[in-house]
Amino acid sequence: MHNQPKFYPQRGSDFYADGRSVRPQVSATIARSQLHQDSYLNTGFLNGKEGDSMPFPVNETVLARGQQSYNVYCTPCHSRVGNGAGMIVQRGYAAAGNFHTARLMTAPLGHFYNVIANGYGAMPDYAAQLSPEDRWAVVAYIKALQLSQHAAQADIASGVHVEPLDSITEREGLPAGFAYDWNLPPTAVKGTPNGEDYVIPVGTNNPLATSGGHNPDTGPSNRVLTPASGNTPLLENNASSTAGAMNQQK
Ligand code: HEC
Repeated sequence: MHNQPKFYPQRGSDFYADGRSVRPQVSATIARSQLHQDSYLNTGFLNGKEGDSMPFPVNETVLARGQQSYNVYCTPCHSRVGNGAGMIVQRGYAAAGNFHTARLMTAPLGHFYNVIANGYGAMPDYAAQLSPEDRWAVVAYIKALQLSQHAAQADIASGVHVEPLDSITEREGLPAGFAYDWNLPPTAVKGTPNGEDYVIPVGTNNPLATSGGHNPDTGPSNRVLTPASGNTPLLENNASSTAGAMNQQK
């Protein structure tokens, strides 16, 4: 394939009369998957505001799909129950959103869609991994997670018996308090090594450093970066960093 005639992107050609190798789109047509209408399904916005409804009905299949995607893409940071204490966060990543705060419990559905589609502060977006339909399925599943932690008697169909966690723990022969927060053993690694403030690492190829990671070709600078969320400004790695040392060897 390397040694065969082909067009390089944006290069000229004498094959077509207009001298361009790239062909213009046939007028008045739209390729499959290119119709990104400004629809609620695609944006999560209604009249310029985050909407509070699903663009399609939720059934068990949708919830199962949402659960699957959530468990794959979101649990590393947000945890299986959505409290924001996922494994990566426990190991030092910026604290992820807790879906059980009063603000997020009442946030419109479109807000969750928007966060998945566009990212939020230290959180990268998941637009490439999740189609609009899958994003909405995750949104529906987050609502289920919220309900799972805050269900009231009125949320349960009458006549259905709900067993308290304590009696499940007892029945399963687990230690008392098993279903509640665990205290990590003193040997567990938590937070930053010496309790320093957590700073998002900024360097080459760091997707979180979109607001100005240094250019590997020009070497590091000491610019102060301000992340999109407007958090504390970050100081970029100085020349003593590994990336800096590597650049200087060039
Ligand atoms: C790499 C870790 C990471 C992953 C994976 C991740 N998030 Fe986040 N998320 C964060 C962090 C960190 C924040 C807090 C960002 C901030 O406040 O700057 C956050 C915040 C949020 C918020 C709260 C926004 C608000 O209004 O406060 C929502 C909702 C959210 N994430 C949803 C998701 C969903 C859904 C997924 C999976 C598709 C996901 N996140 C995957 C790290 C992550």
